[in-house]
Amino acid sequence: MSLVLKRSLHVVLFLVIVTTFSHSASVAQTTEPAMYHEAFRPQFHFSPVCGWMNDPNGMVYYEGEYHLFYQYHPDDIVWGPMHWGHAVSRDLIQWENLPIALYPDAIGPIWSGSAVVDAQNTSGLVPGGGLIAIFSYQDQSQGIAYSTDKGRTWTMYAGNPVIPALAKDFRDPKVFWHEATGKWVMIIAAGNQIQLFTSPNLIDWEFASSLSGDIRGGVWEVPDLFPLDLDGKTYWVMLASVSQMAPAGGGGVRYMIGDFDGTTFTYDRTNFDLWLDYGPDNYAGTTWSDMPDGQRVYIGWMSNWLYANATPTERWRGATTLPRTLRLMQTADGVRLAQQPVDSIAQLRGESLGTWENVALEGELPLDSVQGRLLEIIAEFRPGSAERFGLDVHAGDNTKTRILFNNPQSKLFISRSDQTATGFIPNFTRAFGSHALTLEDGLLRVHLFVDESSVEVFAQDGLVSISSLSFVNPQHDGVSLFAENGDAQLNRLEIYALNSLVPTGNNEMSACS
Ligand code: FRU
Repeated sequence: MSLVLKRSLHVVLFLVIVTTFSHSASVAQTTEPAMYHEAFRPQFHFSPVCGWMNDPNGMVYYEGEYHLFYQYHPDDIVWGPMHWGHAVSRDLIQWENLPIALYPDAIGPIWSGSAVVDAQNTSGLVPGGGLIAIFSYQDQSQGIAYSTDKGRTWTMYAGNPVIPALAKDFRDPKVFWHEATGKWVMIIAAGNQIQLFTSPNLIDWEFASSLSGDIRGGVWEVPDLFPLDLDGKTYWVMLASVSQMAPAGGGGVRYMIGDFDGTTFTYDRTNFDLWLDYGPDNYAGTTWSDMPDGQRVYIGWMSNWLYANATPTERWRGATTLPRTLRLMQTADGVRLAQQPVDSIAQLRGESLGTWENVALEGELPLDSVQGRLLEIIAEFRPGSAERFGLDVHAGDNTKTRILFNNPQSKLFISRSDQTATGFIPNFTRAFGSHALTLEDGLLRVHLFVDESSVEVFAQDGLVSISSLSFVNPQHDGVSLFAENGDAQLNRLEIYALNSLVPTGNNEMSACS
């Protein structure tokens, strides 16, 4: 072989190596899942393109748009210096990611709070009308910011803070306009108290009243107060998150139904242990301000401080619950809050995966024709002799998310696994259930929404809600029915595939720092 030939062989070899390398580099890039397609990524719940989120904040309806701000740490997937992330929607289901709305300033990081439409410019900050955000700084003083361009850009009020830190845990102001007194009202958590303040202009605040709300441990966080009508009567509903000792462990959202006169909230103290959700993953939620026609829509953070920083996701962590319309219902026990996903969720429904009627259940019944991790399931059961019956989703070899009715206790439960591909999630509660249910006409009616890493169960017309994260093997997509130690009757079952509808906007890696 001549020298010349040898040389050119080297060159060829070199070229082959270079192209192999560059080829494998580009393969590595393209096999990296696109944003919003990572394992466990919610496909129809809001989650930030990257980084960490906790509480939804400042929800307000303004000029045809629903704004969703949220506690956001863009630089990591654990809690850190808080910003307000931002997204908007015209229907509460299809979200568009917008740039960060509020950044930490000289006073500090920006914790939870609310936003209102100051249509009459009572603040003097938004001539012609605009949005005012009212939030806590990390030092527990309260500040405001304003926007005159539909929330696209925000200016911090130069006179912040508008209320100093009056308690060790003094935070999460929710503000609304009270027509009868012609004043702004702020409800705010203050340790084991809830306090109310009033203001003519969102800047000068005066203490109005305080209530203890009988908590047995932890602190109040993220309160809300709003009217809801039932049978021609207006009731006032207070929501507030309690940081400990909720039914499923860790934090949860309690509600109280009572009356409000512009300064003081009163409620029936004999009936105070009412919970918005019996699952562990619905915390720090509040409702949209300024929605038309007295509608009330709630959204929560779908996680729990017990393990929020340790769930097995990459690039992003945290999501919201489905947005839920709230209404009051008269029950044998008194007036109660009921909830159901907003009507616009109907657009997610894809093909029917089957309808079953009058099936006698005994043992395990896998539904071999159904595969999917994005599902809507509507079921009606008549309990029989079985101790426990229900259905499994995310089902595969030995792992599943189980929705079960315990017949002797008359309680609905979710049971989930704490095991993931990389180990166990510390403090991940494995099973949790509702209070004892009264079955109208002897029937259990459940409506389920299953996403890549969550299950939300609404039962008995929305009087019971159980929201749960679940990190079962992302390949497991089976559904089965079961009845243990006896039988149960499945009157009717409908299963639909749900479409993926992830946020639009800047969803590239470049949106992430
Ligand atoms: C609730 C909460 C709020 C606080 C925020 C901080 O989850 O603790 O009380 O404002 O999170 O991110």
